[in-house]
Amino acid sequence: MPRPSLTAVVRQATDADVAEIARICSTVYRDTYRELLPEGYIERSVVAFYDERRVAREIAPAPSQWFGYQVVEEHGRVLGAAGGGMISARAGELSLVYLEAAARGRGLGTLLLDRVVTQIREAGGREVWVSVFLGDSPGIAFYRARGFQPVSTVQASLSRVDDHIVSLRMRRMLD
Ligand SMILES: CC(C)(COP(=O)(O)OP(=O)(O)OC[C@H]1O[C@@H](n2cnc3c(N)ncnc32)[C@H](O)[C@@H]1OP(=O)(O)O)[C@@H](O)C(=O)NCCC(=O)NCCS
Repeated sequence: MPRPSLTAVVRQATDADVAEIARICSTVYRDTYRELLPEGYIERSVVAFYDERRVAREIAPAPSQWFGYQVVEEHGRVLGAAGGGMISARAGELSLVYLEAAARGRGLGTLLLDRVVTQIREAGGREVWVSVFLGDSPGIAFYRARGFQPVSTVQASLSRVDDHIVSLRMRRMLD
């Protein structure tokens, strides 16, 4: 169990965080999936999800489908971002969690995950879902270590028929 930093805080993002969120999510996405996914798919996804204008539009909550971006900050620097919302009355989804490489392995990803799980629980969720690319062993290991179990496979969002990019749907039941 990594020891969470005592100086890191997770908070609701504001408009002032847009550029940092877009930068972190784009950089980490490209680095994480370089070996796993076709370059065209990576760039399509980065533009679709983590372009500054898109992040700016989604910075605020749109209850209950989207709780707004969450960020983890330490010594005044944003180090990572996460976000999620409800997909039905009783189920929530963690849509993303990305942390700068230098900040990993000391509990900050778990702080972000816990924040979104708490939001889902408070919105009435009894289960949390997440999509991970099939073959993303570190990602799958992280979610397994946090109580998620694989349930099914689906075509990844933005995947075209000839990409054959598959996501693993994982679920954690809340007590
Ligand atoms: C996934 C990510 C958010 C985890 O954040 P983190 O701060 O490094 O993780 P934490 O320190 O909070 O917790 C790590 C836990 O997961 C486990 N784990 C297993 N494989 C891991 C891996 N490759 N990377 C990180 N944690 C891993 C650790 O053992 C630990 O569990 P434990 O405390 O029970 O030992 C971060 O590594 C990241 O941004 N990765 C790149 C992007 C990504 O893969 N996002 C998620 C997939 S959609």
